[in-house]
Amino acid sequence: MSFPKDFLWGGAVAANQCEGAYNKDGKGLSEADLLLGGNYETPRMFCSHIMKDHFYPSHQAIDFYHHYKEDIKLFAEMGFKTFRTSINWSRIFPHGDDETPNEAGLAFYEDLFKECKKYGIEPLVTLCHYEIPWGIMKNYGGFTSRKTIDLYIRYAKTVLTRYKDLVKYWLTFNEINGATTAIGQYNGIGYVAPEDLASEEPIPLNQLKDDPQKRFEGLHNEFVASALAVIEGHKINPDFMIGCMICHVTWYPLTCNPKDLLETEEKDLMFNDFCGDVQVKGEYNPLAVAYLKNHGIDTSYITDEDLAIIKEGKVDMYTFSYYMSNCVSVDPNAQSIGGNMSMGLKNPYLKASAWGWQIDPDGLKYTLKKLASRYPGVPLMVVENGLGAADSIEEDGRIHDDYRIDYFRDHIKAMGEAINEGVPLIGYTTWGCIDVVSCGTGEFHKRYGFIYVNRHDDGTGDFSRSKKDSFNWYRKVIASNGEDLS
Ligand code: BG6
Repeated sequence: MSFPKDFLWGGAVAANQCEGAYNKDGKGLSEADLLLGGNYETPRMFCSHIMKDHFYPSHQAIDFYHHYKEDIKLFAEMGFKTFRTSINWSRIFPHGDDETPNEAGLAFYEDLFKECKKYGIEPLVTLCHYEIPWGIMKNYGGFTSRKTIDLYIRYAKTVLTRYKDLVKYWLTFNEINGATTAIGQYNGIGYVAPEDLASEEPIPLNQLKDDPQKRFEGLHNEFVASALAVIEGHKINPDFMIGCMICHVTWYPLTCNPKDLLETEEKDLMFNDFCGDVQVKGEYNPLAVAYLKNHGIDTSYITDEDLAIIKEGKVDMYTFSYYMSNCVSVDPNAQSIGGNMSMGLKNPYLKASAWGWQIDPDGLKYTLKKLASRYPGVPLMVVENGLGAADSIEEDGRIHDDYRIDYFRDHIKAMGEAINEGVPLIGYTTWGCIDVVSCGTGEFHKRYGFIYVNRHDDGTGDFSRSKKDSFNWYRKVIASNGEDLS
């Protein structure tokens, strides 16, 4: 197996899932700060004001804000070449539309990135990882307003300029394609319907009123914002590598019924490929536009001026999250199973995690090859992959997470095979390299890390860090550049 010699091994987190300090040093509220925790059976709840006596997982999270030096030291010990995190937009522009940035927020990230560089770790920074300032959601309807494009660009130019010599790798929006599904309306677009905004009572996240017209319009505005960030970014530093970030759920037809194949093809186009095509090729796929029109979306929001911006602001690399594959069928009685962003159907050949996410390393190889063919010559990076599991501390006081090591071993093998077969993969950052709050359920209990954090769903725990067995295993993998997976 041959990973390129400068392969970017590392790990990933998002600001809102790890930092905590949700109202410290001038930070404003961000969308994640309004969400209560849930679990596998119970959805997270949203309420438009902070409710007293409720536990909000993001408010303290794992307190990375005060532990980042200790944590980065541990990442360096594993040999990380890169560390993916995001900038929490509301640390920089607390209300979203402030005239001037918050210096305390800028200074925090400057120090964080310098700390990474001290160990030779390249920061990989997401500009918006489900972190739209609450002020923008409340006052502008998130990205459904064109004004939000201007606010995003003001923010993007501020941080791209400030960190131009510290950060080379940037992602414009995390999992931008989430907005093709109802759940992405809150997370991705930052839009809450007026009646839900007015409600005094908490509402389950999956029961917020969905407005597909606004959602796809908001997504379009994000395409324009992303393209403008790429254009501006390249003016600030021509060496920047700026990428899209797609939540890739690999879909298989459940049977060889041609109708299952047709359904699968449509799902793949609209969930996986639609957004990547816009951001990588710089144009809307005509089949995707036809799909939108056929499903009652008035696409007159796509103007010629926007299309010119999208054409000019093509990304430099394609990055994606990969956790699972799911099946698709026209059979209404086929057994369903959970998944990231959207449900799918159970594959009889695959095992699933305790949260119902099907484990499929071959699907990663298949996906890498598909992407390399679809976007020839464009560097690819897997920026999220991992196993959410309920770790337990054993009698010897340690966490023996062999299941996680098995998961990573199989996925790294699959990446090596794909590279050998011609895929231009340049990096791999595992998700939640240190335990963080789960985005989907808001739990601490669903852990991904090589590093355990003593923090729990009832708000207890002293935030202390300890190494799981996978910590030393990943260190060995990186030291051998992917050769030693034993
Ligand atoms: C991705 C997100 O969808 O999946 C992350 O970019 C998220 O923010 C990750 O944490 C894993 O999902 P979850 O729900 O297990 O945290």
